Amino acid sequence: MVSASVDNTTSDENARISSSKRAGIIAAVVGLVVVAFFLFIGRGIAEDAGRPLTTLSPKGGPAEEIHSLVKPVFIVAGLVFVLVQSALLFTLFRYRRHKDDADGVDEPIQRHGNNPLEWAWTIGPALLLAFLAIPNVQTIWALENDAKNADMEVEVRGQQWWWEFRYDTNNDGKPEVITAQQLVIPVGETVRVKIRSNDVIHSFWIPALNGKKDAVPGRTHRLAIQAEKPGIYEGQCTEFCGLSHGYMRMQVKALSEADYATWMANQTSAPEEPVNGTEAALGKEIYFQKCASCHQINGYDSAGGATGEDLPDPDYRGRDHPLTAGNAPNLSHMMSRQRFAGNMFDLYEPDGQPQLAIPTGTPNESKLGEWLRNPQLMKPMAADLNRGMPNLKLSEEEIRVLVAYLTQLK
Ligand code: CUA
Repeated sequence: MVSASVDNTTSDENARISSSKRAGIIAAVVGLVVVAFFLFIGRGIAEDAGRPLTTLSPKGGPAEEIHSLVKPVFIVAGLVFVLVQSALLFTLFRYRRHKDDADGVDEPIQRHGNNPLEWAWTIGPALLLAFLAIPNVQTIWALENDAKNADMEVEVRGQQWWWEFRYDTNNDGKPEVITAQQLVIPVGETVRVKIRSNDVIHSFWIPALNGKKDAVPGRTHRLAIQAEKPGIYEGQCTEFCGLSHGYMRMQVKALSEADYATWMANQTSAPEEPVNGTEAALGKEIYFQKCASCHQINGYDSAGGATGEDLPDPDYRGRDHPLTAGNAPNLSHMMSRQRFAGNMFDLYEPDGQPQLAIPTGTPNESKLGEWLRNPQLMKPMAADLNRGMPNLKLSEEEIRVLVAYLTQLK
């Protein structure tokens, strides 16, 4: 900076120089405030458990890999942001019009073109992007390898508007377990999810465990997820897929090796048979009259007859398969899940322990009843276009016995 104490400096020049200093200080202060603001926001997002859909709080290998790419890229991008904004603010303040500026006399020298500068701000960013491409491509490969070398595999199907999970544990091409809303995995193991869709494009996203991957009809996409600790990790469909896109959530429940074995043994066991003469037994009859043309309970065909097998039928279509997606959530062991209807509504009252291999607690009978009474009120679904659950116009008696039957399906 030019010294202001040179003898023959005019008072006008003095004013310009101090104005230049002031501009620099203002630019620096504004820059610091902006950086502090983003750091504050970032901390808030990462630490607030009330906002589970954050990518800034990874809980497993693949998500950690993404996060360790995000950090250096964010720092480089942040430095560029601060440099560019500081230069912009400095220029704005330093060369603003002064009160005593005379028109046509005190204008800056008008220039056009500056080759060295233009080369610099073309080549600089190009080199920076080329440099950032290296860790980017490395991370993409690492995530691909995670999916390739996974310990186990689960098929995920997006449907309007819920997620289905299929486990083929003996690799015979037929799933032994078909469940919905909640994907259960053993802790520590890398799980490859094979993502498909039965109707339109959805997108599978459990931010604590990995990035997003689209579910595209006719295609299979692979993604690795892994959870370091037991727990429940929330997710959300992130591709607009129709009326209830915002109500299309999912969860991953990570269980210890022993708990996972308990869960798996329960899923492959025969469904609970209601005792004759109870409300649940009446509910079972209503279920096979009104629900089984879309929903499946393992071990029964859609008319309520025993299939002789306790395993799900992967091609289950009910009697008249009216749905666009071709199926509705498999309801076997329904109460082993935490929520229903696109993972939106709790199956248990607040006293429940949904994190257990087989959850315990008081079934949320009023919520299930509300759903059966008119699902469209809780989740808009265009049922007239064969999408989602229609209003079956059930009587209060039918609703009561259906709830009694469904809530004993542990
Ligand atoms: Cu499925 Cu959005």
